[in-house]
Amino acid sequence: MPERCRGRARIAVLISGEGRNLAALIDACADGRVHGEIVLVVSNRAEANGLVRAHAAGVATCVVPHVQFANRQAFEDALISALDDVQPDIVALAGFMRILTPAFVHRYCGRLLNIHPSLLPRHPGLDTHRRVLQAGDAEHGATVHFVTQDLDGGPAIIQGRVRVDAHDTAQTLSEKVMQDVELRIYPQALAWMAEGVVALDRGLALWNGQIMESPVQWNVDSMATLPDAAVGAHR
Ligand code: GRF
Repeated sequence: MPERCRGRARIAVLISGEGRNLAALIDACADGRVHGEIVLVVSNRAEANGLVRAHAAGVATCVVPHVQFANRQAFEDALISALDDVQPDIVALAGFMRILTPAFVHRYCGRLLNIHPSLLPRHPGLDTHRRVLQAGDAEHGATVHFVTQDLDGGPAIIQGRVRVDAHDTAQTLSEKVMQDVELRIYPQALAWMAEGVVALDRGLALWNGQIMESPVQWNVDSMATLPDAAVGAHR
């Protein structure tokens, strides 16, 4: 279980693409909502627009192009080496489109977060917005969770919902989930991590040392409901 970070948390962010979540995390660190500093942004794609956003904010970047490595192991060794150089307290996946091996996940266990564009455990995997429409779901959203060896299955920290409207398309849903949920809940989850409010212990998410029975629920019309009611017995 990670301890409360002494001083400002050192945060590394892994990206593959546009970097809107990354930008939200950078802003939240810059304006003090997150007691942390983004010490490195790593992309597996040199053309990721998130790198441009990081440069503009003066954040250090590095590219570890997965295509240039013989196998997943070699790619992850390079990733680990880049991360080791900056000794991060927290590693945040933000649209990082590579599946990580159990060894990598184990190495950063309790320090590794991800944001997924669905109300997990509903719709793990890709193409969530289209699948929500196909399933006829009345609501959709995003989840920040600890990464475990279970793909998109680690304990959830915070979840935010939006209504699916009759006229929604995968594109409008994606935009709504990004703007109304993702860009708000990821900075919040990172703030809690940096403060040591949330932690992972033996496969369970803890809130101030107590088991979270369910993620914090957040919606666009209200502030997050803090999980006094969501925590279980004191450990
Ligand atoms: C987000 O929807 C995130 O939830 C998913 O990939 C997308 C990344 O977008 N994992 P961006 O790079 O943050 O703009």
